Amino acid sequence: MSFRLQPTPVARPNRCQLFGPGSNTKLHPKMAASTADVINLDLEDSVSPSDKDSARSNVVKAINTIDWGTKTLSVRINGLDTPYWYRDVVDLLEQAGDRLDQIMIPKVGCAADIYAVDALVTAIEIAKGRTKRISFEVIIESAAGLAHVEEIAASSPRLQAMSLGAADFAASMGMQTTGIGGTQENYYMLHGKTRHYSDPWHWAQTAIVAACRTHGILPVDGPFGNFSDDEGYRAQARRSATLGMVGKWAIHPKQIALANEVFTPSIEAVAEAREIITAMEDAKARGEGATTYKGRLIDIASIKQAEVIVKLSEMITVKFISSI
Ligand code: COA
Ligand code: MG
Repeated sequence: MSFRLQPTPVARPNRCQLFGPGSNTKLHPKMAASTADVINLDLEDSVSPSDKDSARSNVVKAINTIDWGTKTLSVRINGLDTPYWYRDVVDLLEQAGDRLDQIMIPKVGCAADIYAVDALVTAIEIAKGRTKRISFEVIIESAAGLAHVEEIAASSPRLQAMSLGAADFAASMGMQTTGIGGTQENYYMLHGKTRHYSDPWHWAQTAIVAACRTHGILPVDGPFGNFSDDEGYRAQARRSATLGMVGKWAIHPKQIALANEVFTPSIEAVAEAREIITAMEDAKARGEGATTYKGRLIDIASIKQAEVIVKLSEMITVKFISSI
């Protein structure tokens, strides 16, 4: 480990972030009743320009009147290239109560984007005497966002989570696909005549995870557009979890259970992780730094790997028990 230690992200379950348009008020109570850990009320791309003003007031009303339980409550504002974002921030900070936890900033391209929102949020918090500090989450969904991902991750102490937005990212990169996440028909290797599909999102995800882990931010996988394809969602989510992401978006309620399933460490995985920690404690008592577990090498690094799974499981359990 470097002399500069890796910061720990905020301890909150973030297995599923459920989205719903701010303009669709019928969905808001259903979102609150769901089992998603995080709610993202949307003012951005699922709301048409003619509905921006009414969506904003719907969202303020939903925040102030619906029981959101112990969920993390976030609102996605409009991008900084639009005329809407400042009004989103002003109305939310002036009119929404303390139940609002977080603002999601889309299409972030550089650290200065976060600086601008932070300056506005900070001024309103002070002017209005808001005592609860609003946190931020961002979406990396452009070439610039990925090119500047580390400075974005380091940009503000308010920043708690960062998602990959596959659709806008693909468009910005000029990728030839209209798919939102998952396997892409033309992205394969040939071995003989057999096609092996690779993952075109892999390197972007890995860059995001590295930037997030360096700065103590939660890395999250974004949307999977084909909500009729459960197995496709599961496969994408499993790859993201393996790479270090803590959760994934749901753009339809049927994706919530899939995300919760994949991003909650299984009983078997937790049991194995505990066995590895015990085996290493026994090895240490014998004066050994490495030993054998089920025919494979484990050493001091294995303790840290196992602790990732055990701590994640404990954090989710504590949050779940405290909410019932
Ligand atoms: N949150 C909570 N409940 C939702 C929901 C959501 N995001 N989307 C749909 N539902 C509800 C529906 O109201 C319906 O409830 P009912 O059984 O009580 O009638 C049920 O789930 C089944 O919905 P379904 O008919 O399959 O979908 P739909 O045609 O109503 O809506 C979408 C499909 C994609 C338009 C809708 O899911 C949606 O708006 N998703 C979010 C889009 C978004 O926020 N995008 C921005 C981020 S990428
Ligand atoms: Mg987007």
